[in-house]
Amino acid sequence: MAAIEKVQPTLRTNRLELVPFGPEHREHTMKLDMDPKVMKHVAFGRPFTEDEAIQVHTWLMNCANLVPGFGTWAGYAQGEFVGWWILGPVPKKDNPEKFLTDRTEYGFRVSPKFWGQGYAKEGAREMIRHAFEDLGLVEVIGETMTVNSASRAVMAACGLRHVDTFFNTYPTPPPGIEEGEVRYSITRDEWCTKQDIRAPQGSVRLRWSPSTALYKLYCYLLKVLR
Ligand SMILES: CC(C)(COP(=O)(O)OP(=O)(O)OC[C@H]1O[C@@H](n2cnc3c(N)ncnc32)[C@H](O)[C@@H]1OP(=O)(O)O)[C@@H](O)C(=O)NCCC(=O)NCCS
Repeated sequence: MAAIEKVQPTLRTNRLELVPFGPEHREHTMKLDMDPKVMKHVAFGRPFTEDEAIQVHTWLMNCANLVPGFGTWAGYAQGEFVGWWILGPVPKKDNPEKFLTDRTEYGFRVSPKFWGQGYAKEGAREMIRHAFEDLGLVEVIGETMTVNSASRAVMAACGLRHVDTFFNTYPTPPPGIEEGEVRYSITRDEWCTKQDIRAPQGSVRLRWSPSTALYKLYCYLLKVLR
């Protein structure tokens, strides 16, 4: 298989251009983070203050430096900002200051103007494809509050399975946290299997490059040899 490229490229789907996050996206992310509708089931369950929103934007940008290939992407449709998608680092259990390099936690935030039009799913599916096909990761996970039905629906629509419900305590718990949080997951093998059955909707499908051909062969062999 060709060497795996570990830089953050611009990604494309049918409707979205997903560009690596930069300082120029701060205004957009702050607008989302300071909107009560958007933040209802995220973090503290209330809009971020300006300071908090600036910190989050900085973190979203820096996440590209934590594990090569990971990062945040700003999504545009016909030149208009739609939202952001992230392949974020998963801390190691024995040393939370270090990060696993073979799996990622993904996430997304879409501007309310674009809700219900399939954008979250379209961008999220491209994140998953990129994680497995371009970065060679073994698992993509997603976590959200149990009551965040929109986020859960997006994860299910991307082929992730609900694998855990857990209960954490927080100094300032958001409303609804008493129902806990959920973890969803898809492994590379599961994703490969799904590709054979049904190509993801809304994504620009596999480019038939030599590495892709080899990757398909690898997926096929995984299936028949198991
Ligand atoms: C969650 C969020 C990203 C969904 O964005 P979206 O672009 O409206 O989602 P999509 O249109 O791609 O919908 C994908 C699936 O979710 C379902 N869905 C979307 N909103 C839903 C809702 N409020 N309740 C139940 N299902 C919902 C859709 O019906 C669709 O299902 P289908 O593929 O089976 O038809 C958006 O609501 C958002 O940004 N919310 C605030 C931030 C947030 O909660 N982020 C996730 C934090 S972990």
